[in-house]
Amino acid sequence: MNVRVDIPSIKPLISDKLAKWLATPRPMLIDGKWTPAQSGKTFAVHDPATGEKISDGAEGDAADLALAVRAARRAFESGPWPSMTPSERGRIIHRLGDLVLEHADELATLEAIDNGKPKHVARAADVTLSADMFHYMSGWATKIEGKTISISGLAAPGIDFFSATRPEPIGVVGQIIPWNFPLLMAAWKLGPALATGCTIVLKVAEETPLSALRLGELVLEAGIPPGVVNIVPGFGETAGAALAAHPDVDKVAFTGSTEVGRLIVKASAGNLKKVSLELGGKSPNIVLADADLGLAIQGATAAVFFNHGQCCNAGSRLFVHRSIFNRVVEGVAAEAAKIKLGHGLDPTTEMGPLVSQVQYNRVTGLLASGHEQGAKAICGGSGAGGNGYFVPPTIFTNTNPSMRVVSEEIFGPVLVAAPFDEVDDALIAEANNSIYGLAAGVWSTNTAKAQAIAHRLRAGTVWVNCYHIFDAALPFGGYKQSGWGREMGQAVLSNYLETKAITTRLG
Ligand code: NAI
Ligand code: MG
Repeated sequence: MNVRVDIPSIKPLISDKLAKWLATPRPMLIDGKWTPAQSGKTFAVHDPATGEKISDGAEGDAADLALAVRAARRAFESGPWPSMTPSERGRIIHRLGDLVLEHADELATLEAIDNGKPKHVARAADVTLSADMFHYMSGWATKIEGKTISISGLAAPGIDFFSATRPEPIGVVGQIIPWNFPLLMAAWKLGPALATGCTIVLKVAEETPLSALRLGELVLEAGIPPGVVNIVPGFGETAGAALAAHPDVDKVAFTGSTEVGRLIVKASAGNLKKVSLELGGKSPNIVLADADLGLAIQGATAAVFFNHGQCCNAGSRLFVHRSIFNRVVEGVAAEAAKIKLGHGLDPTTEMGPLVSQVQYNRVTGLLASGHEQGAKAICGGSGAGGNGYFVPPTIFTNTNPSMRVVSEEIFGPVLVAAPFDEVDDALIAEANNSIYGLAAGVWSTNTAKAQAIAHRLRAGTVWVNCYHIFDAALPFGGYKQSGWGREMGQAVLSNYLETKAITTRLG
C-alpha cells in the first residue's frame, strides 16, 4: 500500500503573533537572558509534515554550554534560589504549571508544527501532562525529608550521639532530551530538578527546539531566578556531548537512544558525575484468549501507533493467543486503516508525519529489512512519499525473533504480531527476549492471571487492560538496557538529591 500525503504550506494557519516569533532566530536562555550562540551560528527548524523551514534556532556548542554551566553554578552557589524557602520554590514551580495551562493552545500549536503530532493530541496529552508534572512536583518542594537514626557509636563507648540524614540538591544538572515529546520531556526533567533545588542546563533536541524555548520564556515569567534554568538548543555530537563531559556538571539526566545513553555514561566518567538514563524499548503486549476483544484491539492499536510509534514505551511486539490471533490482527489492521494521516494543525488529523527525514529513512529502512527477511505486511509496509515524512501504520506477521523488525526498536508506526499457544514459561521468555525492559501490556478478563504475568515481565511499567497510562505520581523507567533510575513520582527525586549524614556528639 502506498498512500501519498501532500500537505500545503501551513503559513496561512498560524497567528501573526506566532509567525513573528518564528521569524526571529530563536535564541538560547543563559543566565536569565536570551542570547544568540557565541559562534553566531543558527540551524533550520522544519515542519516535518511539509519539509518547509519554519524557524531557526541558535546553535549552541561547547562555548555556550560552558557559559550556561557557569551561570547554573553561580545560581546554585550564591543566587537567590538556594536561600529561598521550600514553600517559595514550590509556589514558583506551581505558577509555571499554571502558565503552561494558560498558554496551552500556543504550546500545542508549536508541538504540531515542530514535531508533527496532531495539535488536539498535544493539547490533551503533552500540554496537560506537562502542566501536571509542574503542579505535582511543586508539592514535593516542601516534602523532602531526612530521617533520624539511632547509632551504636561502637568506637566511642559511653558517648551519646544524635544522627540524622539531610537530603540536599545534587547541584548543577545537565539534562538532554529527545524530540518525541519535546515539551513533556522538558517538564519531566525540569520539574523534579527544580523541586529539589538544583540548577539546570537543558539541551533540547535539534529536531524540536521550539516548545521548550517558549517554556523558557514562561520559566522567567513564573519568577524562577536567572541562571537556575538555562536552555541551549544544539546538536548532540557538539552541544550534548559537551554537556555530558563538562567537569563542573554534577549530574546528567538523559532521555534518548540506548546507543547515545552508552556515550553519556562514557562521557560522565571524567568527573564521575551521577547519571540517570531513560532509553529505548521493544515492549511486549500480550493478549490472552479470555481478553475483552474490543478493548484489546483498540488498546493494541493505540499501544503501538500513538505518537506515530515514536514512544520509547510503544507496545511494538504483539503476542496473541492462537485461538484469536486472526481476529485480533485483522481488528488492529481495521483500526489502523481508519487512522487519518495529515498535518497536525488539521483538526481531523489522527496521525502526523515522523519527526525528520533521518527518522523517515531509519523507519523505512527497517520496513525494507522486514520484507527482505520474510515478514508479511498485513497493512502499510512502506513510506507514503510526498513532501513530508509520513509512514502509514504497518503490521508484520510471519515474523521470527532473528528479524531486525522483531529485535530492534523501530520508533515508528510498526507492529510485529505473533501467535502463542499457552501462557507458559516459553511465552514469558519470549516476551522478555529483548535487551530492553521498559514497558509491557497484558489483556485478560482474569485479572489474577494477568497480575501473575505482570509479575514475571522484566519491565519498569506493566499495563493491564490499558496502555500509555502515565501519571506524574507514577514512577517510569527501564529494566535492562532501557535505562537507569526512574522519571516521575517520588522515585525521581532521588535522581537529584545527595544524602548527607550528620552526627553530633551529645555531651
Ligand atoms: P538520540 O539519542 O541521538 O537523541 C536524543 C538526544 O540526545 C538529542 O537531544 C540529541 O541531540 C542528543 N545526543 C545525540 N548524540 C549525543 C551525544 N553524543 N552526546 C550527548 N547528547 C547526544 O536519538 P535520535 O538520533 O534522535 O533517534 C535515534 C533512535 O533513538 C530512535 O530511532 C529511537 O529508537 C531512539 N530514541 C529513543 C527515545 C526515547 O524516548 N527513549 C527518544 C528519541 C529517540
Ligand atoms: Mg542521534
